[in-house]
Amino acid sequence: MSDKLLVMEGIDKSFPGVRALDHCRLELNAGEVLALVGENGAGKSTLMKILTGVYTKDAGRIIYKGEEVDISSTKVAQGLGISIIHQELNLAPHLTAAQNIFIGREFMGMGKLFVDDKVANKKAQEIFDRMNLDLDPKVKVGTLTVAKQQMVEIAKALSFESSILIMDEPTAALTDTEIEELFKIIKDLKAKGVAIVYISHRMEELKKISDRITIMRDGCYVNTVNTKDVSLDEIISMMVGRTIYHNPRGSSKNSKGEVVLEVKNLNRGKTIKDVSFKLHKGEILGFAGLMGAGRTEVARAIFGADKLESGKILIKGKEVKVRQPKDAVEHGVGYLSEDRKRYGLTISETVEENVSLACVEKFTKYGFTNFKTITQLTNDYINKLAIKTPSSRQIVKNLSGGNQQKVVIAKWLLKDCDVLIFDEPTRGIDIGAKSEIYNLLSELVQEGKSIIMISSELPEILRMSDRVIVMCEGRVTGELAIEDANQESIMKYATNREN
Ligand SMILES: Nc1ncnc2c1ncn2[C@@H]1O[C@H](COP(=O)(O)OP(=O)(O)OP(=O)(O)O)[C@@H](O)[C@H]1O
Ligand SMILES: [Mg+2]
Repeated sequence: MSDKLLVMEGIDKSFPGVRALDHCRLELNAGEVLALVGENGAGKSTLMKILTGVYTKDAGRIIYKGEEVDISSTKVAQGLGISIIHQELNLAPHLTAAQNIFIGREFMGMGKLFVDDKVANKKAQEIFDRMNLDLDPKVKVGTLTVAKQQMVEIAKALSFESSILIMDEPTAALTDTEIEELFKIIKDLKAKGVAIVYISHRMEELKKISDRITIMRDGCYVNTVNTKDVSLDEIISMMVGRTIYHNPRGSSKNSKGEVVLEVKNLNRGKTIKDVSFKLHKGEILGFAGLMGAGRTEVARAIFGADKLESGKILIKGKEVKVRQPKDAVEHGVGYLSEDRKRYGLTISETVEENVSLACVEKFTKYGFTNFKTITQLTNDYINKLAIKTPSSRQIVKNLSGGNQQKVVIAKWLLKDCDVLIFDEPTRGIDIGAKSEIYNLLSELVQEGKSIIMISSELPEILRMSDRVIVMCEGRVTGELAIEDANQESIMKYATNREN
C-alpha cells in the first residue's frame, strides 16, 4: 500500500553458518510505534541493521516513502531520516557526552578548524532538558553508568530529528522513572509523525507503548497484530512456538545456612556509605534500589574492582583482603557485571575461550591444557542455556545481544564459585531463556552456592529472592524477609520515605 512509510520485503541475510533472516518483512506507518519481538537470535537487530545500512542484505527490497531505496551505508540511512539506538552501546568513552552526540558532524568554529564544544554543549543540554535528564554535557562518557550511557545514546538518536527512529532494547538498562521519561519522549515523537520501531524483551512494556506488534521467529516473519487485540500470552506463544513453564523456586527458599559472606561498614566516597550485610549459604539475596543507589558499586568493591576506603569483608567468618578481582576469585567469589561489554566478555574471542576464560587453570595440568574437555563443557552450557551459535568456536561479537549475555553466565557457572554476584543477569534475555536462567539459579543454591542478585526488575527480585536488601543513595535503607517484600515496601525503602 502506498500510504506505508516503510515496507521491507523478502529480506534475506546469511552469515557463515547462520541464516539470520529468511524472507523477512516489516511494514511501518508514520506516527506509529511498532514493537518488534522475538527470542534471542530471532534476527531483530539484524533486520534493523539492514535498514540502517550497517549490514547489506543478500536479497529483498526496501520501499521508503513510496520509492525503492538502496541503503548502502549508515550515512545514507541518516540522510534518509532513519536513525537507530543500538542495542550495544557505541559511545567513545574518552569523549564527552556532547561530543559523542555530535560525533562526525561537530560544529566548527574559528575559521572551521576547531570543534566548537560550546555549541555542541548547548545543543546537547537542550536535548537533555527535553528528556528531563540531569546530565552534564561536558562529562566524559567513560565515567557514566550504563543507564546514563544509554540515555546519551537516546539523546544522540533524537538529535537527528528523523522520520524513523529505531530503538533496539532502549530500556534494558533503565529503571522505572527513566522508562517513564522515555515513554513520554516516544509519545511526543509519535505526535510529530515520527515512526518508531521498538524492540524489547520486557513484555509488559509492549502493551503500554506499542500500536502494533510484529513477531519474528528464527529469522522468519511470523505475524503482525494490533496490540489492543492480543494478550501477552498470545504474543509469547507466537514468539516461541511453545508454552513456557515457570518452575517455582522450590524448597531452598528461606533456608538459612551458615554465613558465607559478610561485609561490615563498607565505605567508598559518596557511592557506598556504611554498608553491612550477611549472605547465607544456599540463599539468594536480592538487591533492589533505584539507579545510582550504589548496588553495582558495592558489588564491584566486594569483587575488588574498585578500592574501598574502609570496611571489612569476611568469607566464612575470616577477614580477607580483596585488592583486585583475582583475589576475590581466589576466595570463591564471582561477579557477573551489568556491563558485559566492558568487563564480562572478550568479544573478539570465541564462545569457548570466553566461557573458559576465568578457569583455564582448572583444565591445565603439567603445562598441558585439555581443550577437549573445555569444548565439551562449553557445549554442555550451549545446550543448557540454549545459546544460539553455530558452534563453540564462533566469535562472541557475532552472537545476538541476549546470547552474549548467556555466554557470560556460562563463564561464571563453569568457574564454580561459592558466592556469585549477578548484576542484572537477565538484561536483554528473552522470556524463554529467562526461565532457564531462573531454574539454573535455583539449582545453584540447592547445590549450596550463595547468590547476590542485583536487579532493577522487581518481579524478578520478588520471585527469586529469599531475602531482599534495599539501597538508596549509597546506604542500605531496608532489609525485608521475602514474605514482607512487595512492590510497595521495596519502593518505600528505595526512595527512603518514612511511610
Ligand atoms: N556479524 C554476524 N556474524 C555472524 N552471525 C551473526 C552476525 N550478526 C548476527 N548474527 C547471527 O544472526 C542471528 C540473529 O541475530 P540478531 O542479533 O539479529 O538477533 P536478535 O533478534 O537481535 O536477538 P537478541 O534478542 O538476543 O538481541 C543470530 O543467530 C546471530 O548469532
Ligand atoms: Mg538484538
